[in-house]
Amino acid sequence: MKLIANALILFTGFGCKANCTHNPGMAYSFDNIVPSANLTWTPCFDDFTCSKLEVPLDYSNKSLGTTSIAFIKLAGKNATIESPSIIINSGGPGGSGVDLLLTNQALASQMFGDQYNVISYDPRGVNNSGLTVDCFSGNTEARLVFNRLHRTGSTNVSSTSFEEQYYSSSIYGDWCNNAVQNESTHGYYVTTPAVAQDLLTFIEAEAELAGQPPSDAKLWFYGISYGTVVGATFASMFSDRVERMILDGVLDAEQYYDNTWKDSVDQMDEAMEKFSSLCHSAGPGKCSFWGPTPANITARMNNIIRQLQNHPVPISGVPSRDTPTLVTYSDLKALFVTTIYNPLLSFPGMADILHQVERGNVSALAGMFSGQDITSDAGRIIQCTDSYRRNKLATIEEFKSYAEYTVSKSKYIGDIWPIVVETILCTSFQPQLPDSMVIKKSNRLLLYSDPVNGLGKPTPFPILVASNTIDPITPLSWARRTSSRFPGSVLLLQEGIGVSHY
Ligand SMILES: *[C@@H]1O[C@H](CO)[C@@H](O)[C@H](O)[C@H]1NC(C)=O
Ligand SMILES: *[C@@H]1O[C@H](CO)[C@@H](O)[C@H](O)[C@H]1NC(C)=O
Ligand SMILES: *[C@@H]1O[C@H](CO)[C@@H](O)[C@H](O)[C@H]1NC(C)=O
Ligand SMILES: *[C@@H]1O[C@H](CO)[C@@H](O)[C@H](O)[C@H]1NC(C)=O
Ligand SMILES: *[C@@H]1O[C@H](CO)[C@@H](O)[C@H](O)[C@H]1NC(C)=O
Ligand SMILES: *[C@@H]1O[C@H](CO)[C@@H](O)[C@H](O)[C@H]1NC(C)=O
Ligand SMILES: *[C@@H]1O[C@H](CO)[C@@H](O)[C@H](O)[C@H]1NC(C)=O
Ligand SMILES: *[C@@H]1O[C@H](CO)[C@@H](O)[C@H](O)[C@H]1NC(C)=O
Ligand SMILES: *[C@@H]1O[C@H](CO)[C@@H](O)[C@H](O)[C@H]1NC(C)=O
Repeated sequence: MKLIANALILFTGFGCKANCTHNPGMAYSFDNIVPSANLTWTPCFDDFTCSKLEVPLDYSNKSLGTTSIAFIKLAGKNATIESPSIIINSGGPGGSGVDLLLTNQALASQMFGDQYNVISYDPRGVNNSGLTVDCFSGNTEARLVFNRLHRTGSTNVSSTSFEEQYYSSSIYGDWCNNAVQNESTHGYYVTTPAVAQDLLTFIEAEAELAGQPPSDAKLWFYGISYGTVVGATFASMFSDRVERMILDGVLDAEQYYDNTWKDSVDQMDEAMEKFSSLCHSAGPGKCSFWGPTPANITARMNNIIRQLQNHPVPISGVPSRDTPTLVTYSDLKALFVTTIYNPLLSFPGMADILHQVERGNVSALAGMFSGQDITSDAGRIIQCTDSYRRNKLATIEEFKSYAEYTVSKSKYIGDIWPIVVETILCTSFQPQLPDSMVIKKSNRLLLYSDPVNGLGKPTPFPILVASNTIDPITPLSWARRTSSRFPGSVLLLQEGIGVSHY
């Protein structure tokens, strides 16, 4: 669902309801669950069962040892022993599937139906699974200083901003390399091809538990956003093991593995411009930034953008934090980014804020940009290890042409996007990974057409690719390209604005 998990998702907390000890057999944390090579489900979080599955660190060299993957299961109310389990894969990279299912319990059974079990998991390197790395080793001051050095704001917010973003990015990789070297030798063994193998291990373990032959085990899968890269990777590596697959809100796997994410800016302005027409048709009672025509609304938004570009607004004390701040153009751009992840839900709130800003009250924008600081490294580590042999965004020239491209494509978000998507942070990552864990370097995407390794075969049942007609983060063009790569797949379009149907 969400691409940039650490920055943009507001996780709703989940913990012990009232009293954690009321049921001694009930686990409320994965810390209390013992990893095992055979699948064992423990009751957890009241309505779920949880498991930690031991998997090889490196499937090509099992002597390297194991790590563990946290799975969570919501049994279908009307499920039988034969009922399939649908694995839902969260966005990110770096998103926690455990958290996704815990916070969307009702929606999950509503979406799929009570005849199915719904399962999710934390991929390697994420939350409750093994191989998590903190690149700053708990040194919060170093992390904060890095964020301030690197996250200077919109690309061209000052004459030095762009260069500062480029040159500071190597610091991040250096810290991650050190943390992995000193504290977590296999911390980089978190690539998506390994995750696809883990899913195969899981469905085989599930089959074994049900007394069925593991070699017949098939995957039922629903992936959103980055989760579609996991699905596409699995379907390429193990095409004959796909029973049903839905890829919703598609992130193009080729642009992901190349670390370009180039076309993600395709439909951003189309989505932003819907704000004016929707606000206008909603009327002044429902949209506080209403104006007599959509063009009037757009013009007033542009005024606000221009104003803040030239005049940051000082706030002597932010009430909630009791610190002085300067509200900047980048704070406004950060608001736009947050908003387009879920336009229909967020437009009314954006209207309220713009209405206040127009009257000179910018307090709601205070801290908006720094609030998106990098606080968890899982997403970047997965993204950078996945792309390290193919990275097409490494030199300052590549970064410049990328930034100029995003600026040319999106007036509203193009100049903040490079520092939000953070592809540039991969520059100095040095993962020493075995071939088995990475997608090979190639101009064409071998992932989908590698007859030597048996990749690129059609799946036994067609893949369903789904997209909104206006998708501001994972644009429709990505869904079309992905669908064209999987023979027989079908593209389902929904007239709507937003990232996925979920
Ligand atoms: C939690 O439940 C246990 C057993 O019912 C009880 O002894 C204990 O006092 C409760 N603790 C709290 C903090 O409510
Ligand atoms: C796992 O299951 C297999 C087959 O059911 C069994 O042979 C093996 O002993 C089990 N291993 C453990 C660690 O329980
Ligand atoms: C497998 O890993 C072991 C332990 O690190 C190492 O000694 C061995 O050389 C590796 N084998 C291969 C084929 O890479
Ligand atoms: C549960 O499954 C039975 C048998 O397939 C079906 O008749 C019934 O309608 C289902 N109930 C619900 C609530 O889905
Ligand atoms: C990690 O998983 C726990 C459940 O074990 C959940 O409560 C928490 O929100 C998750 N954290 C993140 C950052 O996703
Ligand atoms: C980690 O290792 C690097 C060099 O390998 C060293 O310079 C650094 O001080 C170490 N960091 C910690 C936190 O131990
Ligand atoms: C928008 O409409 C209002 C109300 O008619 C008008 O006062 C204002 O000047 C218009 N603004 C722009 C930028 O067109
Ligand atoms: C300023 O805007 C914020 C939120 O946008 C609002 O809560 C606050 O009441 C406003 N202050 C004034 C003086 O209108
Ligand atoms: C930043 O501004 C300079 C000078 O105006 C311009 O040449 C460059 O293309 C701009 N860069 C981006 C990414 O917009």
